Amino acid sequence: DNDPRIMRIASSMRVISDFPKPGFKFKDISTLLLDPKAFKDTVDLFVQRYAGMDIAVVAGVEARGFIFGTPIALAIGAKFVPLRKPRKLPGEVISEKYILEYGTDCLEMHIEAVEPGERALVVDDLVATGGTLGAAINLLERAGAEVVECACVIELPHLKGRQKLNGKPLYVLVESD
Ligand code: PRP
Repeated sequence: DNDPRIMRIASSMRVISDFPKPGFKFKDISTLLLDPKAFKDTVDLFVQRYAGMDIAVVAGVEARGFIFGTPIALAIGAKFVPLRKPRKLPGEVISEKYILEYGTDCLEMHIEAVEPGERALVVDDLVATGGTLGAAINLLERAGAEVVECACVIELPHLKGRQKLNGKPLYVLVESD
């Protein structure tokens, strides 16, 4: 894709070697947030895609999915539902365990945040193995929502995360190795 907005978004992110562990290459979106034009273009590209699609729920994955998910939810007139790490949400929750690139983890969602039949979009910054998005999809489907799509800024396609999404579509702005 040679959309200049996408090229600016891609070049605004950086890679930090040996973080969080030796041998890993961490894709750091914090530098994208330091470029207000790249940050706004990122949100606008998602908003253009999802406006008018009758999406009732934007579910953002802790922590960086909150950064992109909230402005998208506000712009398309959807509610924002945080999917959080264990023991953070005070109300009644449902939980999904998943395998992460760096170990195992769990996501939780307030059960009453979503109503059966609501159309939902899942937002995160990055898809690696796909375990996190897979857990997010399961949470929403257990609550009766219809997951329309997952949206991320970056995909690491060699990790084949799309295979963990239970057939749900994934839309990304940038691919990285
Ligand atoms: C990162 C990233 C995604 C997840 C992707 O989050 O923000 O949520 O990993 O990995 P996967 O596709 O292999 O599941 P991280 O676990 O670093 O949590 P944080 O955002 O709370 O720091």
